[in-house]
Amino acid sequence: MSDQNLFSSAVQLSPRRNTTAARSVDELLREQLDHFGIAADSPHGQVLARLSRALFEANGAAQDAWRLTSETLSKLDRRDRIAWFNAKRFACFQLAKVLDTLQNPLRATYQSIMDDPATAVVKGPYPLFDNVTALFSATPVITRTATYVYACTEWVEDAFQGKELLHEIYSRLLNPTSICLANHIVDLEAGPEARDYFAWNFNSGMAAIDSTLANLVGYEDIVLASRNVYGGTYQLLHDWYGKRSNLDIAVEWFDGEGEEEFSNCLARIERDYAERLSRGRQIYVYVESPCNPHGNVLDVPAICRTAHAKGLTVICDATVGTPVLQRLLQRPDHLERPDFLIHSYTKDICGSGNTTAGVVIGRNERMFLPKGQTVRATGHDGRERQYAWDETMFWNVYYVKGAFLDADKAFEVLSGMRTMELRVLQKCINTIVLARSLALHPMINVHCSAVAGHHNGRLREKLMTLGLPAPLFTIDFEGTARNPQRLERHRLQRLLDSLEPAFGLQVTLGQTNTVVLCPALTSHSEMSEEALAKAGITPTTLRISVGDEDPRYLLEHMRRAAELAAGDAVAAFIEGFPKREKINAIYQDVYTDVHGRWIAARCGN
Ligand SMILES: Cc1ncc(COP(=O)(O)O)c(C=O)c1O
Repeated sequence: MSDQNLFSSAVQLSPRRNTTAARSVDELLREQLDHFGIAADSPHGQVLARLSRALFEANGAAQDAWRLTSETLSKLDRRDRIAWFNAKRFACFQLAKVLDTLQNPLRATYQSIMDDPATAVVKGPYPLFDNVTALFSATPVITRTATYVYACTEWVEDAFQGKELLHEIYSRLLNPTSICLANHIVDLEAGPEARDYFAWNFNSGMAAIDSTLANLVGYEDIVLASRNVYGGTYQLLHDWYGKRSNLDIAVEWFDGEGEEEFSNCLARIERDYAERLSRGRQIYVYVESPCNPHGNVLDVPAICRTAHAKGLTVICDATVGTPVLQRLLQRPDHLERPDFLIHSYTKDICGSGNTTAGVVIGRNERMFLPKGQTVRATGHDGRERQYAWDETMFWNVYYVKGAFLDADKAFEVLSGMRTMELRVLQKCINTIVLARSLALHPMINVHCSAVAGHHNGRLREKLMTLGLPAPLFTIDFEGTARNPQRLERHRLQRLLDSLEPAFGLQVTLGQTNTVVLCPALTSHSEMSEEALAKAGITPTTLRISVGDEDPRYLLEHMRRAAELAAGDAVAAFIEGFPKREKINAIYQDVYTDVHGRWIAARCGN
């Protein structure tokens, strides 16, 4: 390492990194000892100088490893990458071993000073000693703290500028458990593109959606949103952003799932809002795919391409699909990726139903830059442009608004995520079985892309992992082509109220158990009658969020509940349920087909 490189890595470790007068490593060492009131020629001074010099060198070597890894990793073969990984992992243990060895003199010195029992009681244990070994906890550590001990004035000053990421300052801003989750979701969602992406966690899916909009949308801008969105999102856009005394946003909805419907609507919006646009107001595109409540898949890549060609930013709520069923940030063509991807962790990602949480994932330059910094990067429209720190989600929203995710919830999500793929695969199988079986009933309309002939089947095949359907669909009892008789409201209510305990009467989705609700009365009750009709939600629409149970058990229970609801009055309704043998046959077919395709895909066939 050159003297200059050693000096600059040493300055980074100095307590006077921003104001040092030293010109050499020796001068830095003396300055540091002096800063803490230690005589350089004392035995302690000599030992500390030796230790610090070694640390300066270690820091320089670690920086070289960082540079070398960035430059060469993609060119190394896998065997070498495994070797590099383990050698560096071992170096972490070596550094921690040094830290652990240092604990002994540090603790002894601490004990010799903290000799007032009352002070010691009030202060509590000194975490620096025992937290060192927690580095090697086999699961992420739940960092349940409001704040952190900082090293010195200049390091914490840098932390407040976003230039010292070792210092997490305050858990509303950064927290190791939450960062662990953010890094993990980026790895899962962006895969090989993960280096370009960054995530911020929020205390609910709605907080994630609101923060994304708050970061982007300004007074009198225009949001063009897909018709079928979660009712809470509808309410947020329509009632808050659209409110005159708030931001007076124009909220417009486009029907359909394809690019053509989107383009046509966009062209209309450009005409209708020509005056606003001429005043510099912007259009933002908001899509939810697969959408709530019907589970239909939108052609998000094609919509992104069209929107980006016009320089528009696209936000996508991908909650219902999870990173198992679609990986929109891994599209080879950048222009086909949404700019901000949102998940409500509350649903299938966590899966346990034990917590509410959400996340926004975006490209690094739109999520965080150190204070005062700008970078040039390829923009969402494919053209190079400058990004400034104060436009990033961190400084513009996260830092100031406080809707952060705390460590306990982050840990809960991390724990739940481990079984996500298994759960979702089983749910998709169950969805196909339930939807296809219910579609045989002459009095039930099934709105699920897994049913033969459904208009959304082509997009599902094209965009979803293994062409699987979202584990969410709707049915209604408005009368069908085969039997126009509508199920009366009081019978529907009796049916719904008898679905427990096999089904859960719960107002959420993405749980391990199957839950059912009437969207017009619950999840989408914020919408007007006209808006509900446009969204394909009738008074008899039931939303089924499919769980991991045996679907045959659910169908049998539903048939029994129908007997209670219909009595003898609607015999056709009770008799319409398919027979057990038929359901068994569907179950067997679907189970073997999906698992066969899954294993074939794993084996690259
Ligand atoms: C698709 C979708 N996005 C976002 C949300 C909001 O998430 P949360 O309940 O975590 O705020 C929901 C809630 O049901 C949802 O269904």
